[in-house]
Amino acid sequence: MSTVVITGTQWGDEGKGKIVDYLAAQADTVVRYQGGSNAGHTVSVNGEEYKLRLMPSGILYKGTLCVIGNGVVFDPQVFLEEIDAMKKRGVDTSNIRISNRAHVVMPWHKLCDELGENLRGENKIGTTKRGIGPCYMDKADRVGIRVCDLIDREDFAEKCREVLDQKNFLLKQIYNHEPLNYEEILKEYEGYAEKIAPYVCDTITLLNEEVDAGKKILFEGAQATMLDIDYGTYPYVTASHPISGGVCVGAGIAPKKIGKVVGVVKAYCTRVGEGPFPTEQLNEIGDKIRTAGHEFGTVTGRPRRTGWLDACVVKYAGQLSGIDCMAVTRLDILDGFDEIKMCTAYEVDGKIISDIPASLKVLAKVKPVYETFTGWKEDISNIRNYADLPVNAKKYLERMAEVTKISLGIISVGPNRDQTIIVDKNIF
Ligand code: IMP
Repeated sequence: MSTVVITGTQWGDEGKGKIVDYLAAQADTVVRYQGGSNAGHTVSVNGEEYKLRLMPSGILYKGTLCVIGNGVVFDPQVFLEEIDAMKKRGVDTSNIRISNRAHVVMPWHKLCDELGENLRGENKIGTTKRGIGPCYMDKADRVGIRVCDLIDREDFAEKCREVLDQKNFLLKQIYNHEPLNYEEILKEYEGYAEKIAPYVCDTITLLNEEVDAGKKILFEGAQATMLDIDYGTYPYVTASHPISGGVCVGAGIAPKKIGKVVGVVKAYCTRVGEGPFPTEQLNEIGDKIRTAGHEFGTVTGRPRRTGWLDACVVKYAGQLSGIDCMAVTRLDILDGFDEIKMCTAYEVDGKIISDIPASLKVLAKVKPVYETFTGWKEDISNIRNYADLPVNAKKYLERMAEVTKISLGIISVGPNRDQTIIVDKNIF
């Protein structure tokens, strides 16, 4: 089957954009199925960097169909900014399709995201403040506005008034915040509606027809397993399902139509925002990883928390998403380390475990059990064949595959498209 899902195995920022971009060369279609403009995928082409937020990473290939699925929370303002930026750089944007069922991020979502975080104080989640959680909340509360509502002038005017009345009441009662202005929002969003209308269609029919016709389709996950609302470190998670199962609900694709699943694994580990992170290194090792890896958020610019690879987390992601092979990214960032560690189990209350505790209280007290590897201390960024990697790098990778029970598929040794070692040639 020619459908491939790319999913993050850690806390996001694994370098999924680069892997999607690489595989997109063979794909007819690239699809976003969850999340929204909280994602920040960086793709480097010929030394030029593109930072994508809502846009599927396939946009950089001429002729590739790029679909924003129904499971995405769609911010028209960000979308149109991205379109403009792409056009200015000469990128063809005519092949984008937006699901008419996707929910629209409204100004009250962004405002409530910010006010909610302030209210939580020390218990804040550390969201990207892009309105993601509040938009999914409204979807579940059945007061969301969908793209099909937005592009219907009459419908939108009515729905917007109805929801805004409710929101203004809540803004006053909960946050003592002044009301948002209906006329202003209406005008702003009518402007967006006109501009996005040509891209809107029923992407469910479109994608199912493509699958049935044997087209090669890449589903691009945003965020990652440990940020999944069910499987991540709840409540320090995002509001959607980044795991491969998210494709079924977020793109309207039946489980039996999912072909392969590629799990993207950063060679070490990072996290942004609050919440447990067992292998975090709050010391000079963490600083060294951050500096070597330029680990600062694409969307927010926040310094990322850094630590050693947690193989327990990757194994868990493998189970949840049915990962067929791993794409290990940023291996080159570890070039300068004398010693590299990998967490292969946890110790908690004198017991050794390798599963992920549901309770944050328990997760906060687990002690990682590390295996130590001798570093390879050489520049691997020009290596293109697995066999040519230093022996110590191969030992590290092969142990990762053994502990996680997932085979190696791709190894990335630099940001550019060509800095890629293909181990599994049959991903598509
Ligand atoms: P939200 O998705 O903005 O609601 O944020 C919820 C949590 O997910 C926060 O800890 C964010 O930092 C994290 N998060 C959201 N998007 C990303 C991402 O693309 N990479 C890494 N973390 C993310």
